[in-house]
Amino acid sequence: MFELLHPLPPDPILGLNAAFKADTNSKKVDLGIGVYKDEEGNTPVMKAVKEAEKRILTSQATKAYIGPTGAPAYNEAVAELILGPALKTSLGGRRITMQTPGGCGGLRIAAEFIAQANGGATIWVSDPTWANHKPLIGSSGLKFNSYPYYNYETHSVDFDSMMTTLAHVPKGDVVLLHGCCHNPSGADLTPDQWQSIRDLALKQNFTIFIDLAYQGMGDGLEDDVIGVRLLAESVPELIIVSSCSKNFGLYRERTGAITLICQNEREASAASTLIAAAARANYSMPPDHGAAIVQLIREDPTLNLMWQEELKEIRNRINGLRITFANRLTESGAQHDFSFIQKEKGMFSFLGITKNQIQKLINEYAIYLVDSSRINVASINDGNINYVTNSIVEVISKE
Ligand code: LMR
Repeated sequence: MFELLHPLPPDPILGLNAAFKADTNSKKVDLGIGVYKDEEGNTPVMKAVKEAEKRILTSQATKAYIGPTGAPAYNEAVAELILGPALKTSLGGRRITMQTPGGCGGLRIAAEFIAQANGGATIWVSDPTWANHKPLIGSSGLKFNSYPYYNYETHSVDFDSMMTTLAHVPKGDVVLLHGCCHNPSGADLTPDQWQSIRDLALKQNFTIFIDLAYQGMGDGLEDDVIGVRLLAESVPELIIVSSCSKNFGLYRERTGAITLICQNEREASAASTLIAAAARANYSMPPDHGAAIVQLIREDPTLNLMWQEELKEIRNRINGLRITFANRLTESGAQHDFSFIQKEKGMFSFLGITKNQIQKLINEYAIYLVDSSRINVASINDGNINYVTNSIVEVISKE
């Protein structure tokens, strides 16, 4: 039976990372995968995480099963991080939060939940969106459509076109939005734009589904969820999938959650059984370690402060790099205007160069970036910035 198998093409992001690792060029730079790197090019374990791990190691009394919905205290801690204490309290029993294996696990469970609630639903994703949204959500059988999001000429959100398309989304369909730090473009919605989308969702009766993978990596833990909270307090139904991979640096620990806001407690209670059953059928229950770390950090004021300070340092470094990188491209003689990079949020921006130029950067300079021209700004440092900017300018000016 296995002789019938044909290999699949490499994953657009993870495949690039594998190619980078295999490259022997000493000048190689990985601007591909969305992993935060410090000035030395490392992705260190956060100090608050290390400290929490030490405490867990000495205090953990059992490794018994935790159950499909994860640790209740972690679920509440995550809900409070996303929604804030006041909104979380006011939503009461209309809100449920359940631990998932990373944001990816959450997206997959959300897709299965939507398929159960309305198998005919179409999921509307931004054009462009994260490369793994369609594989993760689509394998549950749901259909896709897309709405215009990024204008490659103005390097900003094409809000008018987005709203024109969303105005035709019918009741029962689901619109997937990025909570902050849009992946891959870095172009975020303004609070006014969130409000307009909220008004449209109420008018059209479509359901909003938010992928929140970068809370705290853009403007701050509170500012990054202005849109999420606006919706959570004013729409009848909302799906939020969140990840602790980036803001806690827990990538390999697979720590995420799904939060549902339902019209009433009865629906929330029914929904919770569907989510638990989907988890049980897929992976039985989520891994514990990352969630235990997040729970402890959020419950312990000293660790929480330590974590927030570290996250602020990460955010400030990325925002500073955006400014330096755009300036350095101009100083290196770039004819293109790259100032838009300074305004975007989170780890990603599009360089806006051609596929041919991207291939040249990879093959001739060992500078790896996704074939949409998405770069991870956090991979730039003092040691590689001149090489990266000079190479980009060289490649662009040759075409
Ligand atoms: C990315 O977009 O590069 C990250 O979210 C990593 C991944 O799994 O794709």
